[in-house]
Amino acid sequence: MTVAATRKSFGSDNHSGTHPAVMRAIVEANSGDAVAYGADPWTERATSELRRLADAEGEVYLVLNGSGANVLGLGLLLARHEAVICAESAHINTDECGAAERILGTKLLTVPAPDGKLTPELIASRLGGRGDEHFAQPGVVAVTQSTELGTCYSLAELSKIRDFCNDNGLRVFMDGARLANAAAYLGCTLAELAEHADVLSFGGTKNGAMGVEAIIVMRSADTASVPYLRKQHMQLSSKMRFLAAQFIALLEDDLWLRNARHANAMATRLTSGLAGLPDVEVVYPVEADAVFARLSRAHIAELQREWTFHVWDEETSVVRWMTAFDTRESDVDEFLASITATVSGGARG
Ligand SMILES: Cc1ncc(COP(=O)(O)O)c(C=O)c1O
Repeated sequence: MTVAATRKSFGSDNHSGTHPAVMRAIVEANSGDAVAYGADPWTERATSELRRLADAEGEVYLVLNGSGANVLGLGLLLARHEAVICAESAHINTDECGAAERILGTKLLTVPAPDGKLTPELIASRLGGRGDEHFAQPGVVAVTQSTELGTCYSLAELSKIRDFCNDNGLRVFMDGARLANAAAYLGCTLAELAEHADVLSFGGTKNGAMGVEAIIVMRSADTASVPYLRKQHMQLSSKMRFLAAQFIALLEDDLWLRNARHANAMATRLTSGLAGLPDVEVVYPVEADAVFARLSRAHIAELQREWTFHVWDEETSVVRWMTAFDTRESDVDEFLASITATVSGGARG
């Protein structure tokens, strides 16, 4: 039976398929036997390349998905009585079914953050109960790069957060499910981003992989418990070579960066095409692969008859349009033509 693909989705970079080079790498790894649980040459190659790219003194661990990466990464930094400061919009707060709270037993101390970005001032606003045994003690600050709202922290902003956390005895975890998009936007290396975190994830899945993320532990002093926690959190894949093969393909000739640059460029193309359209307001700076726009409920409903995308906030009538490594210019142009036709005539807000 063949299952037919639909027209290009603007719903998520997760809706895209697997990059052909990644698929080839998986197929090539499918030859003969290999020792399980990561003791194979593919894993050695992928993790050592990632370690070098991030300039990490510690270690790199491959995991199955982004939520698992977040739980593992936060878990290895947190003491049992400690809490996590994060933006209200953080994926760990909004979209992971309370995994961090449920599995780690931690508390998320959330802060409303314009554009999805924390600042030292916003972090400081949650340090009130420090030293008081009646309050959960902040131990980790979680930043997302690029953010859930399609924005990117500049290196200077990350540096300020890093300094503030160092001065205040806080560790930094970076959710890098879309780290590639941030590196592409900022024109910086992975190492320049990684140096601002104690532990970070580096996402493959949204960047053309079939399903793999890396946890990068920057200092060897933090690595001791990771193998055990990864197993306990059910993130240790037995046939690890197939996870590793995906990263090998993404790292070859900087495919990860080219994919991210392309996805970002398609979001920029979409944004440019929206300029001047009546009743469409782009609500956050477009710095990665997501465009958030406000338009009337009637226009949203009309567009959703033909196109796949998420309504981000029902109340404010904001939608999220995402591009991916495989979004074509013609996909964007076709989508723009529909948006233009919808807001210029047809349904009235
Ligand atoms: C910023 C961010 N972090 C983590 C995740 C979780 O990834 P997964 O769905 O693979 O668990 C996502 C998924 O959309 C995400 O957007």
